[in-house]
Amino acid sequence: MLIKDILKAEADSSEVRVSGWVRTKRDMKNLVFVEVNDGSCFAGIQCTFDKGQGLGAATETGLSRLTAGASVIISGRLVPSPASGQRLEIAATDLIVTGEADAESYPLQKKRHSLEFLREIAHLRARTNTFGAVARVRSRMAFAVNRFFEERGFFLIHTPIITANDAEGAGAMFQVTTLDLAALDGSSAQPDWSRDFFGRHCYLTVSGQLEAETYATALSRVYTFGPTFRAENSNTARHLAEFWMIEPEIAFAGLPELMALAEDFLKYLFTDTLEKSADELDFFDRHIQKGLVENLQNLVKSQFTHITYTDAVNELQKSGEDFDFRPVWGGDLQTEHEKYLTEKLAGGPVIVTDYPKDIKAFYMKLNDDDRTVRAMDVLVPRLGEIIGGSQREDDMKKLEKRMIDMGMNIKDYSWYMDLRRYGTVPHSGFGLGFERLIQYVSGMANIRDVIPYPRAAGQADF
Ligand code: 4AD
Ligand code: MG
Repeated sequence: MLIKDILKAEADSSEVRVSGWVRTKRDMKNLVFVEVNDGSCFAGIQCTFDKGQGLGAATETGLSRLTAGASVIISGRLVPSPASGQRLEIAATDLIVTGEADAESYPLQKKRHSLEFLREIAHLRARTNTFGAVARVRSRMAFAVNRFFEERGFFLIHTPIITANDAEGAGAMFQVTTLDLAALDGSSAQPDWSRDFFGRHCYLTVSGQLEAETYATALSRVYTFGPTFRAENSNTARHLAEFWMIEPEIAFAGLPELMALAEDFLKYLFTDTLEKSADELDFFDRHIQKGLVENLQNLVKSQFTHITYTDAVNELQKSGEDFDFRPVWGGDLQTEHEKYLTEKLAGGPVIVTDYPKDIKAFYMKLNDDDRTVRAMDVLVPRLGEIIGGSQREDDMKKLEKRMIDMGMNIKDYSWYMDLRRYGTVPHSGFGLGFERLIQYVSGMANIRDVIPYPRAAGQADF
């Protein structure tokens, strides 16, 4: 039985069997306490062996060799526990040690390890309370994402990972090639990509948005949920080179509908996690980020603040804060600015809209002022940007002009133009960074600790 089911059962002396990994073993005179965890839930279960009860020889030997990290199968009766903090325990009779763990070299000893150290043993860190909890929350949130959209008539579209175009127009892409780079003639500036596997220069996608748009203009409401890749060398606690993104795209919708969707979506996900991962959140609240649960509960009840970029910059300028980067119209909002807007000005999530076109992607719809675009970023306290999105430019001429102005090769995007050429509609979408979401609900400070095997500049060891 999984421990999560055993812990819900009655202490009626029924026979049970658990399989898992030993967290701790305490040897008393007649009793041996073995704490077993199988990862099915936050808690483990205590198995108590009474040496006075005539344990078999195999069990006696097994017990004497048992150390933290060993894998075991333990049978016994489910009884009320006299110890505090646990309702049940197993009065254990049989022990099978399926795999010993050398006590000298096993890296996860009883003491608390730093998150940095655990990053170096990413293959074992899921056995700790923290990383087990992150993994369970992550899995449940992925289900909640799909459930949210399914309930609202959205279709999941599997957009490609290998692509020939730059969806963000930012040029931070990894190349995909089977050419033997070592054998390339150093004299030519570029390899002959026509000889490459796909017959052209290809990359790992930075976003599934453009392909999602093609399906939104056929199925009305769609979303993608997949891995995306960015070759930006930003070594921060919020950036990965490989991260998962959820990108809904809706036809016949503008910014108001998109903002409402983003707010509903986040509240749905937080509510779901508060309900389904209560044990994990309680742990995060106690050990990782004090006040986390209350924070999420308040957020679900709150209304997100809306502010235009221009008003936000004005607020920052008159704030009297001593920022490292002076807020100026036309510049990116820095993390410190996002923190001010969410934590001090609004005291909660903020949706900033209508950014200057020059700091946003080519596909965003131009406003009548010709200077700003129908963009929206959702900012949250502690973290900053969690969602980025926009209404899309649906006017063929304007889109073409924008792409030419930005030096893009419009020939590569003729398929994207077709959406404007044939039955164009106002449409909008956003991207939610899945790891930023997990960071937010867990309180984990570093994004590398919310994905099993983080990929960042200089980091792909596992
Ligand atoms: O703002 P971004 O770059 O927007 C897009 O990619 C659009 N195509 C989305 C759309 O409209 N369909 O990224 C969206 C979100 C960010 O708000 C952030 O949460 C996350 O993706 N993100 C990253 N997360 C981890 N590491 C990185 N390097 C990230 N870059 C963006
Ligand atoms: Mg963004």
